[in-house]
Amino acid sequence: MNVKEIIPLFKADLLLVEGCMTDNFRSDIPLIPTVSKYLADSGGKRLRPLLLLICSRLTGYSSERDKDLNIKCAAALEYIHIATLLHDDVIDTADMRRGRSSANVRWGNSASVLVGDYLFAKAFSILSQRSDPRVMQTISSSTVYLTEGEVKQFNNLHNINISTVDYYDTIERKTAALLAAACKVGGIIGGGGDEEIDRLESFGRNIGVAFQLIDDLLDYTSNEEKLGKPVNDDLKRGNVTLPLIYLYEKSSDKTRKEIERAVSGEAEENEIAKVVQMVMDSGAVECLLGECQGYIASAKESIAPLGQSEYTKYLEAIADYVMEREI
Ligand code: IPE
Ligand code: IPE
Ligand code: MG
Ligand code: MG
Repeated sequence: MNVKEIIPLFKADLLLVEGCMTDNFRSDIPLIPTVSKYLADSGGKRLRPLLLLICSRLTGYSSERDKDLNIKCAAALEYIHIATLLHDDVIDTADMRRGRSSANVRWGNSASVLVGDYLFAKAFSILSQRSDPRVMQTISSSTVYLTEGEVKQFNNLHNINISTVDYYDTIERKTAALLAAACKVGGIIGGGGDEEIDRLESFGRNIGVAFQLIDDLLDYTSNEEKLGKPVNDDLKRGNVTLPLIYLYEKSSDKTRKEIERAVSGEAEENEIAKVVQMVMDSGAVECLLGECQGYIASAKESIAPLGQSEYTKYLEAIADYVMEREI
């Protein structure tokens, strides 16, 4: 099964999520709906809402019992995601997001930070209306974790000696935690048992790590047109990700000096381009794809004991998609 076949099956719910997002942008401060809508309307894969919707159905969610709870939680998660993107693009000085000029370019850094704050706050306001305390606890702790990941990454900028362990810890926090929360919350609101919920969370965490590994790879291998966001940005900003760690580890002293210069934040375009090419020629792509495959396999193993249903098939298809994604 292909992920493209799953979206139409959840179309009705996904449209309700969009509606819930739009309703909650409403504010008498015009910049809030303007910036929020700009980002929401520019696409985005809606991966976190989709995972939540699938996991809630998998565990027996019924809209009669808990009307629209899945929709509200999915919208809140996408709000948190969009908020982190607004902030992330300020931090990364990125000029493009989802194929358009980024909000920080259009309205400035202050607007992006403030509207990002609004979306974070609003997400929790939506959740506070009628959530199971476990939902609130899961989403709030994953948001704390996510923020710690972004701060940890910031602390390690230009640090070519960052360990693989620290790299994985960073991506688990900044990206995998929210995907794990999406799956776990789906399991909670569907009424899943503890083990089922844990298995879904583990699925989300494993595909989350793979998702960021691929993102970090695409930053080296893709192009801006295809990806809809800047490429080679990690290197330019001195964000040392696994492809570069891999290259550095197997490089001679002379090449290491060139890499150190590239992550210094002071390198010229041609110096960056040279290191990008070295990453591509190093075997890092093959090695990282192998690492990803391991996480995808673990994700599938996590849910294997849940048996086979249409919903487990959707999750498996999403796991495969994470590995193959080009945007
Ligand atoms: C981008 O997330 C940020 C990362 C965690 C790499 P997505 O790739 O899910 O972004 P959208 O929502 O589809 O734009
Ligand atoms: C993911 O990291 C950021 C968040 C978790 C918000 P990146 O900085 O790599 O994400 P992109 O590449 O800008 O989407
Ligand atoms: Mg970024
Ligand atoms: Mg990236």
